[in-house]
Amino acid sequence: MKNIVLVGFMGSGKTTLGKLLSEQTGMPLVDMDTQIEERAGKSINDIFAQDGEAHFRALEREMAQELASKDGQIISTGGGIVLNPDNIADFEKTGLVVCLLVDADTVLDRIRHDSSRPLLADDKEAKIIELLQSRKHLYESITHKVNTSGRPSPEPTAQEIIDLYESNNP
Ligand code: S3P
Repeated sequence: MKNIVLVGFMGSGKTTLGKLLSEQTGMPLVDMDTQIEERAGKSINDIFAQDGEAHFRALEREMAQELASKDGQIISTGGGIVLNPDNIADFEKTGLVVCLLVDADTVLDRIRHDSSRPLLADDKEAKIIELLQSRKHLYESITHKVNTSGRPSPEPTAQEIIDLYESNNP
């Protein structure tokens, strides 16, 4: 069975949908950020603060290569996975990559009180708008996209992804 790989901006719903998809397909959920934290023995915030973003991206790259070499998993990626096109190319080889599109207002609503995202540490709203804008073309370039903006519940989106998976996995 191919992997299902969820890609998208912070707050696009990758973790929530990953859990639902895992329940519905019986495939295990692998959350990349959690794996990176476990291996590094520290939080994403501490990796950014102590080792820098470039080091985090290297850990993320290593994890992407490792996970893409296996199958049968639901993989929830970090929002910056698209910054290195090799990550997406590797995931495409063994899985269905689905990008969850989201607008800035929805992201802000979902993560207003969250402090676990180092890239949004200062002025959250301005950072979200700026980062979304600079990455828009990368998210848009993913073949399979689902818009999650303003959707009150994740179940219909999960079903949409399962339908996509079944039609791409005959
Ligand atoms: C990041 C997103 C985060 C995490 C790190 C960097 C990004 O993951 O990987 O803080 O560059 O967009 P989530 O998308 O799960 O918040």
